[in-house]
Amino acid sequence: MRTSRDNQPRDNRPEENRKRTLDRVISKFGLGSRTEARSWIGAGRVTVNGKKIQSPDLWVDPDVDKVALDGRPITASEKQYLLLYKPKGYLTTYKDPEGRPTIYDLLGGVKEFVFPVGRLDQDTTGLLMLTNDGGFGDYITSPESKVPKTYLVKSSQLLSEDQLEQLRRGVTLSDGPTAPAVVKRIRDSQKYTFFEITITEGRNRQVRRMVEALGAKVLKLVRVRIGTLEIAGLEIGKYRPLTAEEIRTLRKPSRGSGHSDRRADRRGDRRGDQEKDQQRDRQQDAGPRAKVRREAERPRRSGSSGRGANETRRRGRND
Ligand code: URA
Repeated sequence: MRTSRDNQPRDNRPEENRKRTLDRVISKFGLGSRTEARSWIGAGRVTVNGKKIQSPDLWVDPDVDKVALDGRPITASEKQYLLLYKPKGYLTTYKDPEGRPTIYDLLGGVKEFVFPVGRLDQDTTGLLMLTNDGGFGDYITSPESKVPKTYLVKSSQLLSEDQLEQLRRGVTLSDGPTAPAVVKRIRDSQKYTFFEITITEGRNRQVRRMVEALGAKVLKLVRVRIGTLEIAGLEIGKYRPLTAEEIRTLRKPSRGSGHSDRRADRRGDRRGDQEKDQQRDRQQDAGPRAKVRREAERPRRSGSSGRGANETRRRGRND
């Protein structure tokens, strides 16, 4: 399969901006949390340019310095950005204890571990992005970024213009009022209304709950657009890598959005490494990255997918 190798942004920042502390670099390589990295460093398992280093605070340039764990060089995972046309019945999760199909069953050929950017309900079909670029995923799912997601909806009954207007203005859900949405009636059959809705939030089951707030139900839900990405041309159950241009365009702040990717990054930096570390630890303990971490604790094999057996949902939201 063709990957997004060519799409990976080059880090052209000056050396002083690329440098990170050793524990952070190891963690960024995806091997484990900074806490774990510090323990490996303390145990004398880490070398930089062939020299054993026992201080996690050493400044390292990941593009230049050669970092090794237990004598094996570590490298950052290649960035992947995929677009999947999720079929009905597939769970947006890594592994289902009940053995139901998951989106990972559709990702044969993808070597790196990628996580879903937001999630779609089991019965929802349509576009789902997957990546191993945490910053990108956070940007797309953040309500502040206002990346529009468009859904085609078949409602269980005919909806009046007044009801569609309620969706446009926002309805009150158990977790608060929804932001204004763009709603277009596509057509009415004898019994059903088909309409398109574009939202910029990504709350859990948001579209279904919005329609339920009108006293109707969603019979069919298809995500047909994420930002500038369209479903046309992608076969159901198949995925493709995003092009460099698509990634760049998605990263551009939408009109009226609350922040840019860079601002989010800076805020992330300010929020403090400790908090981020704790968050990552929780995710790793719960999810597939736990396997990556375990891999770091035993002799490494080549060609590992980095996937684990634990079920995970990166977020409890639809996006
Ligand atoms: N809104 C929903 O209700 N479900 C989805 O899967 C996505 C958006």
